[in-house]
Formats: sequence, structure tokens, C-alpha cells
Amino acid sequence: MRVPGVSPFIFTSDPTAVREVFLGDPDSLHAGEANRPLGAFMGEKSSLFLDGAAHRYQRRLLLPAFHGERMRSYADAMRSSADRAIAGFPIGQRFAIHPWMRTITFDVIMRTVFGIEQDARASELRDLLLGLFETYTGRAGTLFALSAMRLDLGPWSPWGRALRLQRKVDAILYAEFAHRRAEGVQGREDILSMLLQARDENGEPMNDSVLRDEMLTLLLAGHETTAATMAWIINRLLTRPDVMERARAEVLGVLDGAPVGAQHAGSLKYLEAVINETMRLDPVIPNFGRALKVPMRIAGRELPAGVVLAPCIYLVHRRPELWPEPDQFNPDRFLDARPSPYAFLPFGGGTRRCLGAAFASYQMKIVIADILSKVDLKPVPGYVARPLRRSIAFAPSEGLPVIASKLAG
Ligand code: HEM
Repeated sequence: MRVPGVSPFIFTSDPTAVREVFLGDPDSLHAGEANRPLGAFMGEKSSLFLDGAAHRYQRRLLLPAFHGERMRSYADAMRSSADRAIAGFPIGQRFAIHPWMRTITFDVIMRTVFGIEQDARASELRDLLLGLFETYTGRAGTLFALSAMRLDLGPWSPWGRALRLQRKVDAILYAEFAHRRAEGVQGREDILSMLLQARDENGEPMNDSVLRDEMLTLLLAGHETTAATMAWIINRLLTRPDVMERARAEVLGVLDGAPVGAQHAGSLKYLEAVINETMRLDPVIPNFGRALKVPMRIAGRELPAGVVLAPCIYLVHRRPELWPEPDQFNPDRFLDARPSPYAFLPFGGGTRRCLGAAFASYQMKIVIADILSKVDLKPVPGYVARPLRRSIAFAPSEGLPVIASKLAG
């Protein structure tokens, strides 16, 4: 695919090509460069946009915060954010549930990544950030990838508005870093505090502009993708009442009257299968890319330097030889099965695999289990979800309208 002003894209759904991309030399296959059009406002120093040694260094600093065993400490924040949202569902009325999923994921990210609880500071930052994300990821924002579109014609021009919002967000972030340093980070479990303590091999801390870029990336990459995926999970459950009931029966059995917590996550096997099957059929990021720095032979084809090779998650997940009856929603195919990382890749793979994969999977399990244990959701007659691009992820159209009722008993 050729788009003026951008490197040519070569899409592939061939698992052999996917394998070669994941196992290939990251210095020849630049993910950071391919990601750059995604969002200038996250900053050039974000690990999403770096390659080579700089990427390896920053990823190493971030990794411990996203290790599987750290997830247990985030479970309470995840459940209580979900509880708060569920208590606000307008029972008996039609409402769009995707915005509620965004509220939950944003709240969770603010608490676990920033360590900011719900207070005036959090809501100011939240409003500014959401405004900034909208500005950058709306229709005008897509054009900001082209430098010619970045014209500051005052606060009402798209770029002028973005710049002003960005300055306000930056001021709050830098003030928060200074405040946290002055206050000390002892005993804090959030990711910002962890990064403030991190030192490189020369004993130097991360500088504020790098920290700012990483924080914005985690906020955006972390909340939009997970919220959109949860909306698709709910959509699949609505269209398959048999699956909804089986998942609910599992949840109620495992919880046995207790609120969902870290101790339950490992036992929710069917719910995990439902989540995976939804990510197979409704991947919110349909493809990712690697910019070729040298000519390469991939899956037997010669490709020139300068192109972006883009494994297409959506198409790989629909290949009939990998997934028999690929269009059927059948969570059972994930029960007791470990799919190949070259056939199931909702989080990408190789040295660039999504940093937040365990975090997102864990959060989705806790939140959906909490919803299933508290409310019954019914579809709105006649509604059929269409994928619409919302920011960096595809989400169901109209925010996914539903009707909720309290669960009997
Ligand atoms: C269901 C939710 C999510 C999905 C589907 C998703 C998907 C992806 C994909 C496809 C990539 C590109 C991987 C590649 O190029 O091979 C990626 C990268 C990334 N994701 Fe996620 N993501 C999700 C949630 C999160 C969360 C919760 C966070 C953090 C809190 C996060 C942080 C990142 C970062 C930092 C990268 C860049 C990694 C690197 O380049 O080293 N993501 N994600």
C-alpha cells in the first residue's frame, strides 16, 4: 500500500513471515520507526518510538513493573475502579457501555502507573489528557503525522489547541515528578515511583523529558486498547447468551460470594478463553509494523530496504488452516490449548511484544468478572456493532449500546 509522504507498506498474514519478523534482528527491523506516525504528542523519547540500544535500555527499565507477579498488587485498584463504574450504570435504560470501560481503564492507569487516586489533581489531569488524546487522535490529529499540518494559528486552530493543551499537561506532569521526588517514593508501588528510582549504568536517573514521554505512552497505549477490547468482549457475550451464561456460572462458582480478587484470576479459565477468542476475532489493533533498514528475504520473498513490513493481526487470526471455521466465535478452542505465537498475536511479538500484555489480560479478567457477578446485560434490538477507529484502537460503533439490570439474588 502506497500513501503519499509515508514509506510503502507491505501487509502479510503468513505465519512464516510473522515468525521471521519476531525472530529477526531488531536492528534491521525497526518497530519504533514504523510506530512513529501513531502519535507525535507521546514524544520521541517514548519506548514505543525508539529503536536499537536506546529502546533496549528503556524497555529494561519498564519491564519489572509489568511482570506477571506484579499484577496481584494491581488487582484491588482494578476491582474498585470497576465497582465504582458499575455502581453508575443507569439500570433499566439504554446506555453506551464503551465510555464506561474507558473510565475504568483510565482510572486504573492513573492509580497503578501514576499512583494518583481520585482527587481534584487526578480529575484535572484526566480532563486535560482526554482533551489532548481527542485532539491528536481525531480526524485532524491523523494529519499531524505530516509536519506541514502542524501550524499554530492560535488556540482555535487544531495544532494550536493541541500545543496549548500539551503545555498544560506537561506543566502538571513535571510538577508531579518534582513533588514525588521531594516527598520520597518509599513504600509506593506505582510505576512512576519505580521509574523515579531507576538508575542507568552510570548511576544517572531518567530525565524528566524521557519520563514524561513514557508516562504519556503508558496512559494512552494502556487505556484505549484495553477499554476497546473489553467493549468487544461484552459485544460477543451479548450476541451469544449461551457463552455469557457459561462465563457467569464459572465466575459465580469461583468467587463463591466473595468480591473478585487476585486469588481468583488463575481459576477463571473459561473467561480467559472468551477474552482470547474475542481478541482473535476483534483485534483492536489490526496490524503493527517493522521498517526494514536493509534489504531482507522474508518468507522466501526479497524485500527492499525502506518499506514497512506489516503483519496483519486481523488476517492471521482468520486463516482457516490455523483456525478451523475461522469466523465462528468458539472460546473452547482456547481451553487447554496454547496457540502458536505466530498464529495468535493480539499483542504483537518478539522483542517488541506489548509491554502491557499481562497487565491488560489481568485487568480484563477482573473487570469482566466483576461485571458478570453484578449485572445482567442485554443487547439493544437491531444493533449490530461496526468497528470504528477511536484513537489508536478500533472500538464498537455508537459506544456499544446495552441495557443493564441488577442480577437477581
Ligand atoms: C488489550 C489491550 C492491549 C492490546 C491489544 C495491545 C496491543 C499492542 C500491540 C499490537 C503492540 C505492538 C507490538 C509489536 O510491535 O510487536 C503494543 C505495544 C505496546 N504496548 Fe500494548 N496493547 C494493550 C495494552 C497495553 C497496556 C495496558 C499497556 C501499558 C500500560 C501497553 C503498553 C504498550 C507499550 C509500551 C508498547 C510498545 C512496546 C515496545 O515497543 O517495546 N499496552 N501493544
